[in-house]
Amino acid sequence: MVATPSTERTSHVLIIGASGFMGHFIAQASLDSGQTTYVLTRSSSALSSSKIKALHDNGAIILHGDIEKHEVMVKIMKEHEIDIVISIVGGEAILHQLILVHAIKSVGTIKRFLPSEFGHDVDRADPVEPGLSMYKEKRRVRQLVEESGIPYTYICCNSIASWPYHDNIHPSDALPPLDHFDIYGDGSIKAYFVAGSDIGKFTMKTINDTRTVNKVVHFRPLVNHLNINELACLWEKKIQRTLPRRIVSESDLLKAASENIIPQSIVAAFTHDIFFRGCQTFFSVSGTKDVEIGDLYPDECFRTMDECFEEFLMKLKEKPVEGS
Ligand SMILES: NC(=O)c1ccc[n+]([C@@H]2O[C@H](COP(=O)([O-])OP(=O)(O)OC[C@H]3O[C@@H](n4cnc5c(N)ncnc54)[C@H](OP(=O)(O)O)[C@@H]3O)[C@@H](O)[C@H]2O)c1
Repeated sequence: MVATPSTERTSHVLIIGASGFMGHFIAQASLDSGQTTYVLTRSSSALSSSKIKALHDNGAIILHGDIEKHEVMVKIMKEHEIDIVISIVGGEAILHQLILVHAIKSVGTIKRFLPSEFGHDVDRADPVEPGLSMYKEKRRVRQLVEESGIPYTYICCNSIASWPYHDNIHPSDALPPLDHFDIYGDGSIKAYFVAGSDIGKFTMKTINDTRTVNKVVHFRPLVNHLNINELACLWEKKIQRTLPRRIVSESDLLKAASENIIPQSIVAAFTHDIFFRGCQTFFSVSGTKDVEIGDLYPDECFRTMDECFEEFLMKLKEKPVEGS
């Protein structure tokens, strides 16, 4: 029997922030999942960016726009019959999403909005400043989304798989240490680490899943529930040598946060919240609005930290660092 080609229309997904660190993973996963993927960029010469060009070459439709421009965004969403909007704008643009939410509301046909979350549960975590200010902004966006009645999903993916440097906003772009480890306190507080490609893959699974409408989706892969001492040992096994440990105390991190150097002090505040206060683990995923990604897709595997560190090792072998 000859199979009848499916006439079902794929979702039209608009990705905002695809040229960014986290956004690139999401946009690539959208393409991999077979959705019609629109990528919004503010740059009029977007194809000169290697990240945007790669997405374009893989089938993304590149659109020029800015979420601060209400009418432009309404026109784009209507003209391209957008179903799902995923925003992964960076820290400086969190509040610009308030304008985007109003635009989504006036379009009226958006089936799901994922605002720029992609970290901790901002209603539960309580970092010191200047991290707290960013969370207050994310909370304001949540509040407007919920008041507007737009169906939403909040992705709380915890830490990206990498060495958790306390002064690097994009740690998975950097190799783990080769000279010494900074260990936060006694190094015993655990966090959840998720590969960028898995953040993308699992985010895309949620967008058309009715179980994730108006939910906070927590990423807690047990396979990657590790403390910094365990991470250090794992990396030492890969590089086949031991490195000295340097203790970074709670007051060292609080001092780095209080210096208010943006964005490093924000990262210091989050690092303090993770490795001293245990903000990823102090609560259970049991509220009526909470779902855990492993419960939704129990047959899907996560990339392990061992595999991620193996990838870093390959990079190191391709491009040896001086003194390594
Ligand atoms: N869990 C983790 O470990 C982790 C790590 C890092 C980030 N995050 C989170 O991920 C999210 C994204 O952060 P990021 O560091 O990946 O961001 P980023 O690298 O700074 O990228 C920001 C993106 O936002 C776009 N953008 C900014 N203002 C815009 C506007 N007005 N209109 C349209 N696009 C605009 C930029 O596009 P242009 O090309 O137009 O400039 C760029 O693509 C944040 O919520 C952050 O908290 C989580």
